[in-house]
Amino acid sequence: MNNNLKYFSILVVISLLLNIPYTRGEKVLSNKDTIINAKKDQYYLIYFNNTYDEFKIFSNLKNRKRQESYNNVLSFVDKIHNLIAENKHTYENPKILDKIEEKSKLKKRSNNSQQFFNYGNSELIYPISSVGNRVVFYSFLSYDLYKKVKTLNNVIECTTNKYSVSINSYYNKEDILKETKWNKLSVRENADLHLSLISQGIYNTNIINKYDNNYYYPSSAGKDVDIVIMDSSFNFDYSEFENTNDRIAKCVAHIEDGKPVIGKCGSCDYYHGEQVADTAGGLKHGVANLANIYGIAISSNENGEYLQSDILSALQFIYEKLIRPNKTVVNISSGNWQYEKDNFFIQYQEIVDKITKKGGIVVTSAGNDREEINPEINDLYYIPCSFNNTICVGSTISYNVSKYNRSLYKN
Ligand SMILES: *[C@@H]1O[C@H](CO)[C@@H](O)[C@H](O)[C@H]1NC(C)=O
Ligand SMILES: *[C@@H]1O[C@H](CO)[C@@H](O)[C@H](O)[C@H]1NC(C)=O
Ligand SMILES: *[C@@H]1O[C@H](CO)[C@@H](O)[C@H](O)[C@H]1NC(C)=O
Ligand SMILES: *[C@@H]1O[C@H](CO)[C@@H](O)[C@H](O)[C@H]1NC(C)=O
Ligand SMILES: *[C@@H]1O[C@H](CO)[C@@H](O)[C@H](O)[C@H]1NC(C)=O
Ligand SMILES: *[C@@H]1O[C@H](CO)[C@@H](O)[C@H](O)[C@H]1NC(C)=O
Ligand SMILES: *[C@@H]1O[C@H](CO)[C@@H](O)[C@H](O)[C@H]1NC(C)=O
Repeated sequence: MNNNLKYFSILVVISLLLNIPYTRGEKVLSNKDTIINAKKDQYYLIYFNNTYDEFKIFSNLKNRKRQESYNNVLSFVDKIHNLIAENKHTYENPKILDKIEEKSKLKKRSNNSQQFFNYGNSELIYPISSVGNRVVFYSFLSYDLYKKVKTLNNVIECTTNKYSVSINSYYNKEDILKETKWNKLSVRENADLHLSLISQGIYNTNIINKYDNNYYYPSSAGKDVDIVIMDSSFNFDYSEFENTNDRIAKCVAHIEDGKPVIGKCGSCDYYHGEQVADTAGGLKHGVANLANIYGIAISSNENGEYLQSDILSALQFIYEKLIRPNKTVVNISSGNWQYEKDNFFIQYQEIVDKITKKGGIVVTSAGNDREEINPEINDLYYIPCSFNNTICVGSTISYNVSKYNRSLYKN
């Protein structure tokens, strides 16, 4: 089986843990600006028709024409400033006006150069942009004042300030946060396919004709969540895990003869465990690159099988030592066919139940025999996947975005 496909399973599950709902694959060319508090005291943009020569904000005045323009603009500044002073009572919180002016005095003290700019003397109204005849002022107004200013001579428009979608971004951060209820959004651009697929959900070529390669995730990125991975061997000593100040990523123990040997990491064959850990928590390839990763190494034989003794010992160690309630995901890649009456079945099921009761989440692979994991009649079960208290994950196939499907060989 293609290992890359197998890894997708773990991602889906971790995405459940992180509560990543699907964001739509559409590129949002958003002009849905967010208007801030329509009727509150707030900053407005006043577009003003300056009937004189172009007014310069950052240059010295030279000729007489400019002087007229300067007077015109600054007399508008004075006019609005006086209006504000006379209408303090119309503000919901008039004290803010004093605070704004105080702040500006402090600023001026720390940097005199500002005083040479042609802003005028008010912190409550000043020009921020001026091209040709159009001057834009920035002004802190009450709703009543806004209504008044709107009607003044030469005022083209007075409008609330708005957040526009940041330059070069085609996704709408606000929409994503609203949909996901995340506190903060992080975006990994041009991410691996296995990551961007999590953000897309099902990619429907009929509706959307451009695939979004970004991976969107909560900035918490699994911080303070532990992922315990049972695998044959690990490697945490490379760039994907170099954020050692932010989280722990290490091999906890190697199971030898049914006993955990603390600090050992299994054989030198890194391949499988290294990739699983990277896919779960690697800086670039990982879903949750702030999650702690704990490796439990179990040696397998040449057929890739584990001893029952090692499995039980590993689970016991995990159950007793590594489960932090509601903070731990246990990833078990192994599975095998077992009768319900077998004591190994019963023991295994009970330890999984215990881990779950303690507040751990057990994720495991469905296997790849094209079989039903729960037989109709008393027969072989695929465990631990068929246990009630595991999240059982079947593989998907995703060579590219337009061919993304369940794989045919999965159980
Ligand atoms: C600005 O004022 C001039 C002169 O009164 C007028 O011709 C022009 O149409 C005005 N521009 C705008 C945008 O209102
Ligand atoms: C003062 O302002 C100028 C121009 O904006 C800037 O280059 C300088 O670093 C500022 N100095 C301080 C102390 O803030
Ligand atoms: C774990 O989560 C469950 C479900 O939300 C909750 O009932 C339980 O109190 C939590 N346990 C701890 C230790 O936080
Ligand atoms: C982790 O869980 C996934 C899903 O069950 C599985 O595909 C993967 O092999 C597991 N890996 C390890 C190391 O447990
Ligand atoms: C698993 O859950 C099903 C449905 O709730 C239940 O009928 C069954 O007895 C459970 N199995 C075990 C082993 O608890
Ligand atoms: C996607 O993969 C399928 C199956 O391998 C292939 O037929 C198709 O041409 C690929 N599409 C692209 C755009 O690579
Ligand atoms: C996806 O897989 C299902 C079987 O699991 C199959 O019926 C369907 O044709 C597949 N679709 C594609 C596009 O390969």
